[in-house]
Amino acid sequence: MSLLVLDSVTRRFGALQALKGISLSVEEGELRAIIGPNGAGKTTLFNLISGYFPPSQGSISFAGSVITAVSPNALVRRGIIRTFQITQIFLALTVYENLRVAVECAMGLQLRPYIGRATRARVEARVDELIEVTRIGAKVDRIAGELSHGDQRVVEIGIALSRAPRLLLLDEPTAGMGDEETRHMTDLIRRLNRTNGITMLFVEHDMAIVFGIADRITVLDNGALLAEGSAAEIAANPRVQAAYLGDAAGARAA
Ligand SMILES: Nc1ncnc2c1ncn2[C@@H]1O[C@H](COP(=O)(O)OP(=O)(O)OP(=O)(O)O)[C@@H](O)[C@H]1O
Ligand SMILES: [Mg+2]
Repeated sequence: MSLLVLDSVTRRFGALQALKGISLSVEEGELRAIIGPNGAGKTTLFNLISGYFPPSQGSISFAGSVITAVSPNALVRRGIIRTFQITQIFLALTVYENLRVAVECAMGLQLRPYIGRATRARVEARVDELIEVTRIGAKVDRIAGELSHGDQRVVEIGIALSRAPRLLLLDEPTAGMGDEETRHMTDLIRRLNRTNGITMLFVEHDMAIVFGIADRITVLDNGALLAEGSAAEIAANPRVQAAYLGDAAGARAA
């Protein structure tokens, strides 16, 4: 059984069809890239999967249940976790505090006036795990707002991981990053998938990253599903090349 299934999903905003009859399946353990030109519907796809908007038509299933009308918060509890195109973290808190607050919320502790010693130890152990997996250890005491954009993105992913995602959606995780930050983020995405086994969808404009790490690639164009396949299949697809990739990206992936 596929972890995520979209069946003929359409989303309209007034007269605009942002997504047109999209059907796709994502398998457990898959690292899937979503690509396509600006305005193709990539973020809208994430908004539908994470419950921010309902589809106008069609259905979405996750882990065998229809989730088309389930709220974002309820989907988080079921394990669908996302990051946004714009970074969302607590800028005034340190990295450690960001992760601690996230873990406390994930454990349902946020309204407790006092957290006992045993529970505190569990929170700290979980925060330490997140620090280790994201490799942000050297910066835990820094104020998040003073970090580089790339490090803030890493903290955001740490926060997302506090919810133990079954499906992690990353919207343009490397946008605006320099080479070194991009490499670090790409390594993190690959590690979360390969080592931690997290099923992931990521929107990405950098074709070197897409072809470098994705198991499969879904191409959207003007709200429609243009193509889907392995990196080699997508690179060789003449419709994709014509609509989006151009010769350079095709040559790089080949
Ligand atoms: N809430 C909304 N209300 C009205 N129109 C919207 C809304 N969200 C998205 N759209 C429109 O839907 C289309 C798809 O937008 P979307 O943000 O999904 O594109 P995208 O593929 O993520 O683009 P980008 O690469 O620029 O992030 C665009 O024409 C956009 O203007
Ligand atoms: Mg977008």
